[in-house]
Order: sequence, then C-alpha cells, then structure tokens
Amino acid sequence: MSHHSDDAFNDSPNEHFQDVLERSSQTPLNRRNLIRGGIGLAALSSIPFLSACGGGGDDAPAPTPGAPSARALGFGAIDKSLLDNVILPAGYTYSVLHATGDRLVSSIPAYTNLGTETDEWTMRVGDHHDGMDLFYVNGSGRYSTTDTGRAVLVVNHESSADAHFFHANGQTTNGVSGKKFSQFDSWDLGVRPELEVLKEINHHGVSVVEVGKNASGTWEYKLDSLYNRRVTGQSPMRIAGPAAHLADIRALMVTAFDSTGASSRGTLNNCGHGKTPWGTYLACEENWAAYFFMPAGSTDVDARTKTSRQRYGVIRAPHAAATAGSQGWSNTATAGTDNRFGRWNVSAPGASAAQDFRNEPNTFGFNVEIDPLTSGTPAKRVAMGRFAHEAAICGLPVVGQPLAFYMGCDSRNEYIYKFVSTAVWSASDVGGGLAAGDKYLNEGRLYVAKFNDNGTGEWLELNIANPLISGYATYVFANQADVLVNARHAADAVGATKMDRPEWGAVNPANGEIYFTMTNSNNANRPVTGTNAANPRSYTDNDGRGQVGGNPNGHIIRFKETANASTATTFAWDIFLFGAEADAGANINLSGLTAKNDFSSPDGLWFSKATGICWIQTDDGAYTDQSNCMLLAAIPGSVGDGGAIAVNNTVAGVSATQGTFIGAALGEARLRRFLVSPRGAEVTGITESADGRAIFVNIQHPGEGTPALGAGPFAFESQWPGNQGYAPAGRPRSATIVITRIDGGVIGL
Ligand code: FEO
Ligand code: CA
Ligand code: CA
Ligand code: CA
Repeated sequence: MSHHSDDAFNDSPNEHFQDVLERSSQTPLNRRNLIRGGIGLAALSSIPFLSACGGGGDDAPAPTPGAPSARALGFGAIDKSLLDNVILPAGYTYSVLHATGDRLVSSIPAYTNLGTETDEWTMRVGDHHDGMDLFYVNGSGRYSTTDTGRAVLVVNHESSADAHFFHANGQTTNGVSGKKFSQFDSWDLGVRPELEVLKEINHHGVSVVEVGKNASGTWEYKLDSLYNRRVTGQSPMRIAGPAAHLADIRALMVTAFDSTGASSRGTLNNCGHGKTPWGTYLACEENWAAYFFMPAGSTDVDARTKTSRQRYGVIRAPHAAATAGSQGWSNTATAGTDNRFGRWNVSAPGASAAQDFRNEPNTFGFNVEIDPLTSGTPAKRVAMGRFAHEAAICGLPVVGQPLAFYMGCDSRNEYIYKFVSTAVWSASDVGGGLAAGDKYLNEGRLYVAKFNDNGTGEWLELNIANPLISGYATYVFANQADVLVNARHAADAVGATKMDRPEWGAVNPANGEIYFTMTNSNNANRPVTGTNAANPRSYTDNDGRGQVGGNPNGHIIRFKETANASTATTFAWDIFLFGAEADAGANINLSGLTAKNDFSSPDGLWFSKATGICWIQTDDGAYTDQSNCMLLAAIPGSVGDGGAIAVNNTVAGVSATQGTFIGAALGEARLRRFLVSPRGAEVTGITESADGRAIFVNIQHPGEGTPALGAGPFAFESQWPGNQGYAPAGRPRSATIVITRIDGGVIGL
C-alpha cells in the first residue's frame, strides 16, 4: 500500500526481455518431462499430516519429498468485506492482544490515543505491527522448542506512514501542524519539533512482550513482565560479520557515534522477520533507505558513495532540491549539536567519516538478531547482505548440515537471496542465544537467485573472487566487505533475475520447499515486453483502477532445492498461485480463483507447523474497491504438481506470450478466504501456539487512508479496534489479534 516504495532503483540490464523472448521462441512449452504428475486432493486428505520439524527449529529429520502437506480445510470460506472490523468464518472469534501505544510497564500512564504522550515510546508497544514470532521459555529462562506454558511474543513495528496519529494535532513542520508525512513522500522540509521526532523514532523497532492465557483462557500480554522490552530506532547495535572481513566492514560503518565502526544505533522499518533454530529473532530492515536527508547545497561524499546510495534509493537525485524522502528527523533546531537528529543528515560536513554521519546509511539494511530472552545487544548480521530485507526464513534444519536462510529484497525488480552458514547444525545450540548467532550467521556464503525460463534455477554466489563482481564497472568493489554491504550491485553484476517485489518467504515443513510472495509490479517495471517465465504476467487491472499493465495482483513462486540440500546451487521452481480478481478472465486468473478465494498482492506468507496449512496475507491496493485486505488458507502441493502453460499478455495494443510453470489448481477445497481486515489495513505477521489452537495475526495500519488533520477533526477511514471495544476509542491502531475456535479446536482444519 502507500507505505511501500513504488520506486525502483535497479537499472541493471539483467534478464532483458529480448533474451527471454528469444529463449522462449526457441524452446516452446513442451517440457512436460520436467514436471511430475499432479497430486490429488483425495490422497492429501486421507493421510494425516506429518510434521517434519518436531516442534520447530530442532534436529528435524531430512525432509521427505512429496510428503502430504496438510489435511483438508475445515472452515467455510468467507466473503470479501469492506466493513471496519476483522471478519472471520463461523465458529471463530478474536481478541486484541496488544495495540499501538499499550504500555509495557505500569509506571507510565495508560495510552490516551490522543497523541498527547511525551517520549515514552521505549516503554510502549510500537506502531505498525508486522512480522512476529512466539518463543517459549523453559525453567532456566532459555528458549524451548516445546510449550512450557510461558512465552514471549516478539513483534516488528514497521512504522512509517501514520505518525500523524501520534501527535495531538498531526505532524508539525515550520510551526505548522496538521500534516501527515510518509517517508516516501516528497515534502517541503521545514524545522520539526524535537519531541515529535523522538516519538517517531521510538515507535519504530521491535517489541518483546510476555504473553499467556488468563484464568478464562484468553491470551493477554503481561504488564511489568521482566521480559518486556523495546528495541527502537536508537537502540545500540553490534556490527557483526565474517572474521576475515570484519575490519573492512567496520571501516564502512565509522560514524561520529563510533569511530571504530563496531557499533551503530537503531533498527528501522522492520517488516518481515525470521526465527532461528536456536531460538533468536531476526528483525529485517526493509525501507530504511528513505529516512535520510541531504540539505540543499550539500555535495556527494564521493562518486562511489553516490553510486551506492543511488542503488539503494538513499537519496533521490537531485538532492540539492528542497524536497526529499525522509520525515525531516535531521531538521530540528538542535540537529547541529545533538546527533540523535544530526545522524539522519548524510552529507559530509566533517573532516572525516568519524566526524559526521556520511556512513549512517551503511549501518542499515540488515537482519538484526535479537535474543528475546536476554537484554544482550542486538547484532546486525552483515554476512547476510545489505538490501531491503523483507524477511529471513530458515530452511528445515538438518543435523550435520549447514543452515540456509532465504531472503527477499522488496522493491520492484529486486532479487531473492540465500545465506548458507559455514557451521553445520547442532541441536545442542538450541537456547544458545546470540552466541549461537555468532556461530551460524557470521561465516557463510551469500547467493542470489536466477530463475531460468525452463523451470530450473541457480544460486549465484556473491563473492569478490567472481570476475563478474571484481570486474564490475558500474560499481567498483573494494573488497568482500563491500560486496556484502553493496549486495544489490553485486547481484546485478552476476545476472540475478529481477522479480515482482519479493516479500515474505516460507518453508513447507512437510517437504522443505520454499515459497515466496511476489506482491505486485507496475507497467514501468514489468511491461508486456519485460516479462520472464518467473514473472510472466503484464496486464490491465480488471476494473481499470490502480494501474494499467504490470502485475497488479502478484503471484507466489516456490522452489525445491536440488536433493533438498541447504547447500544446493540449483533448484526447480514453479508458480504456486496467481493473484487475480475472480472475473478477470482466464488469461489473467490463471489459478482459477473464485469469489471465495480471489485475492490480490500477497505479502505475508507462513506455514503452520501444527497443521501444515500455508497462510497467505495481503497488502493490496488493486482490489480494495471490492474488499479490505485478507488472510487465506491454502493446502500446499509440491513443485511440479501442475503443468506448463502459456500466458497471453495484452496491454494497450502490445501483446506477447510468455511460458511458465504452474502448480496444480487448488480450487475452493484447497484455498479459502479465512479473514478480512478492517478498512485501510494490511494483514501481515502470523504465528501460532504450539498446539495450533490459537493463531496470532497482525492488523497493520487500519485507517491508513485517513487524510491529514488539516484544520478540522480527523475524517477517519477506520476506527478499529476502538470501535470493537478495545479502549481507548478514537484513532485507529495497529494490533496483534489472537484467533481461536469457539469449540477450542485447531485453527483451519
Ligand atoms: Fe513491508 Fe515489503 O512489506
Ligand atoms: Ca510486507
Ligand atoms: Ca507489502
Ligand atoms: Ca482492481
């Protein structure tokens, strides 16, 4: 939705359409030999679900290809909805666990929801709930893979677009209040009040909150728990990376905050997440690039820095203008002397990097490892690359084998990456905290995906030893540290496949296959003549709303590593599902969606270990005239269970046929709409209790479309959850909800 960058910063020539068309014309869609026969629903439903993961993250057995994924769905699909509430199937109910602004400690006042708080956000639940996970705590206060009756919930707070709700009269610049800024908007940058800026910085980050069931069985968060903690845009961080390159990495991180580059401050725009097998949390930094600013008249640090920044969208050229991204955090009256504000100004006023914040953007764009059960300093895992991290999903861990983490870079025409640890998995590291993280996430190999148009793919390593990288002319890499920190440039150099905005990944616990949502693209980035087999559609939105061309409804791709090995450098892929409006026509609605399961712009993606259900969450702007965003349940199959198809793209007189591989049609038996959100919200972030009898779902930015305050009262698009009794009523709030079955049963089956 609007809080996402529409900008694309990838000008590399990878996967140009001419190449794809030539290959397609030479190799027609007759590769049935690559595709296994379909798996019938009857077979799926007759075999009990077999968890390959034994409670998650421990010494799971090697995945079994073709194993059943789940039993049949057991709820009635709900209709699309434009109501201002969470809508669920018959027999299900929800409660709010916590919402933006809820206090973590009783020593500060309850939330007013009037924007009158002072800078207390380090002791309140943050804003824009996103990725999350549940961590059970054992009797020693360490992570447990099994239900101990005690748990903490960790939630990313992506934040960004709705900060006008956190001030009494909207956001203020140059003394004028009533404004609403997005970090992606250009606006006339004026002087901002310090208190507003501190509140905005500190409602970003991550919350760690103890949760549990009360006497009546309702899940609640625990006020004053010693586990309650916030990580914010100002929290100290440790810069961690491979030993051989750590000095070079830290040289890129030197700022006036730490002249050694060993530490930095804060995490921003934490979107999807990851959970490690040893029981820590990865908060992924997505749209961090848009928070920085260069004042009018300032000059680039140097040509290489400018090239780096342009590839990441740190500063929109020309940055000499008085408009830019950012929320004006560098523009307070004291920014020249107080580097809590000055750090967002990335010009180079000092004599060296140790005297200013020219390198501050280099300290963002990572997976941040947090131990939810200790107060240890979070670690930025540089070995996993720097880009717009959406989420970091661990493949099924196998004792004695390296671990693989799959990561999307969410912007149009960006890539899917894989990190493979040097260390091999040992179940004795469960509960090992950040020390285990140092073992598995500092040393390893970073790859990027290339999807061939014949249903195969390759992992291309990002290593300075590759002549394509060491000889890359667009950005001249200094060393391997530079490759990790400028991974987008390195991925360009090796020829990765530009995707339709990779959002979450998820791993099917039944067979280890990896799924990724491609949320959408537009005509500028995915014209008919720019399609490829893995991103095969370019068409006109069904009602002409939103956009003409591109892939407005998105799709879900999946792949299977060769021999199911974390270290594989090749894989097989197909497309699990295409988003579409049910009446869009067969050439667009390629998955045969109906009124009970049609959707647009898949974003969050997650497999239940308890049930094997693949849950799909949407963050949409193309179908929101018909429905608010939603959550769907799918029974997965396996790569190759469908067939090869021809996709006929026609937009404004341009037509081209693109071949692709598609999974077996699911039908309403295997794909159903389970939840529809309140107005203006996206549905993102999902996890479960170990018994599968509660799922936790995040409702992010209800009422995002509420206009700036201006002169009058808010014209609310949504007033959820206050309109359902979650006090205090008034302004809309992001929230974690807990969904249970009225009969106490397992969710979804
Ligand atoms: Fe924050 Fe890419 O969704
Ligand atoms: Ca997302
Ligand atoms: Ca999104
Ligand atoms: Ca539409």
